[in-house]
Amino acid sequence: MGAFPPPPVNTIDWSNVGFRVREVNGHIESTYSVHTGKWTPIKYVADPYMRIHGMAPALNYGQQAYEGLKAFRLPGDNDIAIFRPDRNAVRLQHSAEVACMPPVPVELFLEAVKAAVALNAGYVPPHETGAAMYIRPQIYGSSAQLGLSAPEEYTFCVFVIPTGLYHGVHPVKALILDEFDRAAPNGTGHAKVGGNYAPVLRWSDKARAKGYGITLHLDSARHEDIDEFSTSGFIGVKTGGGGSDDITLVVPDSKCVIDSVTSSSVLTLAQSYGWKVEKRVIKYAELPSFSEVFAAGTAAALVPIRSITRRGTSGFAAGANVTKTEEAETVTYIPEGQEDAGPVCLKVLTDLKGIQLGKKEDKFGWRFAV
Ligand code: COI
Repeated sequence: MGAFPPPPVNTIDWSNVGFRVREVNGHIESTYSVHTGKWTPIKYVADPYMRIHGMAPALNYGQQAYEGLKAFRLPGDNDIAIFRPDRNAVRLQHSAEVACMPPVPVELFLEAVKAAVALNAGYVPPHETGAAMYIRPQIYGSSAQLGLSAPEEYTFCVFVIPTGLYHGVHPVKALILDEFDRAAPNGTGHAKVGGNYAPVLRWSDKARAKGYGITLHLDSARHEDIDEFSTSGFIGVKTGGGGSDDITLVVPDSKCVIDSVTSSSVLTLAQSYGWKVEKRVIKYAELPSFSEVFAAGTAAALVPIRSITRRGTSGFAAGANVTKTEEAETVTYIPEGQEDAGPVCLKVLTDLKGIQLGKKEDKFGWRFAV
């Protein structure tokens, strides 16, 4: 066996990685039986296929949950680190509980994630591309079960794919979805379960066809407060009058949003600069008072939001950054023609990527070596 990690494979155009499925060496699996109460030791499977009974509750009743995290090649390409996998381990436990599945122990999660990356290490993009290996752990009810009750077996698996950024690097226009609610008021919005994502596809595809690269959800009970983007968390920036450091980052306090690891990392960085952070209800009508808005997520990293549009014209007070037509109102943060993120987004993104890629000191202990 050669030195670890192997160099990046030469079958991929690393200058154009994109965000799509690519075949790698294989994935990791472990199963849990209610009879033993234990997860089996992890197993490497040298293809991307799962063998699953057609009557598994994962396929019939949506009993599944998933995670998203990333591994990066550090400078010199000689080391690989995974960004904050301990946080994703805990979040998967939460989602599993919501979907009535047994928790994957944190140690097993970390072992499986590291093994999946190590066994596919040639597919971790070269350091200088800034791209990453996207890691997709999943858990689901996998044994046959017809009645609506717990199955006897669950499967935990980890897939990996080399990727660039989901929404690219340029500012995107956002559309608020009023026609469809992502999660019921007392439902599963705080869990990373597929049922929160599949029904959005129709709406986000429609929005994309109209030039909106990202869709935003309001609280489903009243459509008054900001919840999250369909793919990522919401961060608003308030700039005060006290100089360039008088900055507050605001994130929604809602029981219908996912505990975003990227968002929480951004808030930690912000506090380390001496900026203020607030986790509170964000009213829709407050959107024009932000100087910047960005989306935060593993796949997305930080996406600068150019503007936010909502059909109807009743919510925003008139303002320099607000436009209203007969059908809709829009708040603009980054004018057309400007392709750079705002200064706050740019600073945090540079530091976040710097830590992820090993270009900056890991003061917070976020990098886990493979
Ligand atoms: C992630 O950012 O990891 C996600 O799971 C979002 C998904 C829509 C790509």
